[in-house]
Amino acid sequence: MESAEVVARNRRYWEALAPHRLGESIEFFEAGGSALNSDELDAVGDVRGRRVLQLACSVGDEALTFARLGAEVVAVDLAPGHLATGRAKAEALGLAVDFREQDMMALAPELTGFDLIFISWGGICWVPDLTRWAADLASRLAPGGVLVISEHHPLWEVLTVTAPMRVTGNYFAPARDGYSDPLKAPQITRELGDDIPSRSYVWSLGAVVTAVLNAGLTLRSLQEFAEPDMYADLGDQAGHLPATYLLTAVR
Ligand SMILES: C[S@@+](CC[C@H](N)C(=O)[O-])C[C@H]1O[C@@H](n2cnc3c(N)ncnc32)[C@H](O)[C@@H]1O
Repeated sequence: MESAEVVARNRRYWEALAPHRLGESIEFFEAGGSALNSDELDAVGDVRGRRVLQLACSVGDEALTFARLGAEVVAVDLAPGHLATGRAKAEALGLAVDFREQDMMALAPELTGFDLIFISWGGICWVPDLTRWAADLASRLAPGGVLVISEHHPLWEVLTVTAPMRVTGNYFAPARDGYSDPLKAPQITRELGDDIPSRSYVWSLGAVVTAVLNAGLTLRSLQEFAEPDMYADLGDQAGHLPATYLLTAVR
């Protein structure tokens, strides 16, 4: 499937979910809530006065958190419905975020010179060409700028953890049409059903690291984390497998 066709299909998929996917409430942010966890906050460092680009920002919760921390934020997503939710939240909270409807594979030329480019939680799986994507992002970082990827671990993506545990994806064949395990699909589809076509990609850690290095970036850290809730059916061993990862690379 051509990249443009993948993107068009996925825009339809995400637009269909948009009215049902609202993210954190205004009250959550007013109470001082952060959409970034402590490992992510450590990885991004002090963002005050920094230029931040968030990719696949969805309804903007992390972008709003960056803005609240004092960053100058551009947040891009394919789906206008998600961006509209993000804009409404920003307005309600009095925060400035430049939300833009953009395909992260074809960003506008002026989106460049960033101190931080951030993508998370079901973002990288929508990248159809990892090598081209990483090279493009490297060129949009200011010297010393940092790329942070905080994601579901690809091993978790290919395992279905019910008894007996099954391998329902191929770690070495990234393209995935729809989801054979509903727990890997966007959470809202567990209520709505998931019959709208989508094409996503499970990128192995090796593929991600190789793309980042080929883009000329320097790998600063690659952490893998247990998240027992994501393997709940494994009982005592739920913490024995990696569930998420956090990669930081610098230009
Ligand atoms: C699971 S959400 C992103 C996760 C976000 N960090 C969050 O926690 O809400 C995936 C998002 O990727 C967006 N997306 C998919 N393909 C994209 C593309 N090619 N360019 C930009 N955004 C894309 C979708 O519209 C959707 O909002």
